[in-house]
Amino acid sequence: MFVAIRIFVIVLALIQARPLLAVDEVSPYNEISVSKIVDQYMANEMFRQPTNLCLIMSFYGSDKGNDHNYTTLYSELFGEFREDSLNIFELGLGTNNIDVPSNMGIFGIPGASLRGWADYFSNSQIYGADIDESILFQGNNISTFYCDQRDEKSIKNMFSNDALNSVLFDIIIDDGLHEFKANLTFLVNSIEHLKQGGIYIIEDLLPTDVLKFQQILDELKNQFRFVVILKLPTDNESFKVRADNTLLIIQK
Ligand SMILES: C[S@@+](CC[C@H](N)C(=O)[O-])C[C@H]1O[C@@H](n2cnc3c(N)ncnc32)[C@H](O)[C@@H]1O
Repeated sequence: MFVAIRIFVIVLALIQARPLLAVDEVSPYNEISVSKIVDQYMANEMFRQPTNLCLIMSFYGSDKGNDHNYTTLYSELFGEFREDSLNIFELGLGTNNIDVPSNMGIFGIPGASLRGWADYFSNSQIYGADIDESILFQGNNISTFYCDQRDEKSIKNMFSNDALNSVLFDIIIDDGLHEFKANLTFLVNSIEHLKQGGIYIIEDLLPTDVLKFQQILDELKNQFRFVVILKLPTDNESFKVRADNTLLIIQK
């Protein structure tokens, strides 16, 4: 009962945040229909076929295109405007500290996916954040920040940083702490920083969290142009079969 009330309050906060977003900048992704792309991707079974973006992510040490096959979809979703000057944000740098939840193991390479994005989106600015301050770094077109996504104040504090407070994003990816409440807290407090038509993705939804997101799916669908919970099939030939190979995708 308490959880249901809490979810209701959070979704209400999401709804109430909307009028503040009236002066949204429009993303070039506003021109594409994420819904259509997802339908075509599934119908043509494109999840089987590794793409150039899978190779890029694997090269830098991210698991988005080998353990998972997310990059087969991301190539379709993001490819059209990859040469544009975009703002991309990813939560979760990939710590190799095994004491931190959702870590990448001792052989993990912190910053792997951000370097992959910087390579793929070569004219864009890449922003990242993590709870593990020891892995934050700055690089060519990459800036990273501290954020604890369980804590509303920490998220607001990050976005009020001088380097971020005037930035609106074309893509936001939550690959941080893989827990429903943390995902929802970050969604509610970051969606206003996504441009109109921009794409918001939560990675690695576990089956228990899929059930929780299904409970608020209608509310989310009322708020955004397109929302889907997508379990990407894997055939164990090119990609591993994983229970958490599921994305929540929103187009604003
Ligand atoms: C799966 S890893 C990210 C992998 C990376 N995106 C990649 O593809 O290479 C998840 C990250 O979430 C971070 N994390 C865990 N709890 C967090 C929290 N409460 N707030 C923000 N980040 C968190 C961990 O430190 C870890 O670096």
